[in-house]
Amino acid sequence: MNIIDIREKIANAHSVTVLSGAGISADSGVPTFRGAEGLWKNFRPEELASPDAFERDPKLVWEWYNWRRELLSTKKPNAAHGALVELEKILNNFWLITQNVDGLHRAAGSNNVTEIHGNIWKVRCTTCGSVTSNHDVPIEILPSCQRCQGLLRPHIVWFGESLTQEDLDASFRALRNCDILLIIGTSGMVYPAASFAPIAKEHGAFVIELNLDQTPNSDLVDVSVQGRAKDLVPLLLPAQ
Ligand code: OAD
Repeated sequence: MNIIDIREKIANAHSVTVLSGAGISADSGVPTFRGAEGLWKNFRPEELASPDAFERDPKLVWEWYNWRRELLSTKKPNAAHGALVELEKILNNFWLITQNVDGLHRAAGSNNVTEIHGNIWKVRCTTCGSVTSNHDVPIEILPSCQRCQGLLRPHIVWFGESLTQEDLDASFRALRNCDILLIIGTSGMVYPAASFAPIAKEHGAFVIELNLDQTPNSDLVDVSVQGRAKDLVPLLLPAQ
């Protein structure tokens, strides 16, 4: 099956769910996590992206997030993000589950989105739990809650933490109900997102993977197409 057959299949689908990962933002110049140039090559996740790390040294963790905020503040959505906005407009039942915390899907104009790993532009109070938007670059270290003066942390799901029940429910609903699951630019190494392809398949979905390389999902999916997200995803839109 080639990309044109996939386009036809999507056009005839009743319901499409997308799972995206860092690879879709790579074409905007955002570093991925794994692979030769990945963030986890130079940084240790347990020292920067875990609740223990934040408890031990909140200043260090915030400095790392400030570095990432600064980097992301210069990045814009690319043609792949844009094509998903168009698909949402065209299809009656469309849901996007993203592991990305960069906010680029919403910046592009996607509305039906669940950001399962949170959003780097949101902060959460470690005392009262309130979540607010914060686009400061850099953010003041250490930032405190406007309501209760508690310490703020990034509103991100760190290693060892669980997804919110609300996001899990929204994701499982989208996976159970779709007849096509499109997986774009994720290595499929991090759970629970790594289990989304088998879950959708169990519920009868046709699963398509678009990735620069082969992944652990490639053997399990119905079709795997190799290439850059910014080149492949726009080809899924109806021909003009
Ligand atoms: P990874 O860095 O693990 O994987 C990125 C994937 O994108 C790889 O499979 C690449 O082959 C692929 N890729 C790279 N460039 C691409 C391009 N231009 N077009 C298409 N594919 C491309 O990123 P994720 O799978 O998203 O957690 O990682 C999952 C989670 O691990 C992240 O959400 C993050 C990290 O720890 C949090 O931020 C909480």
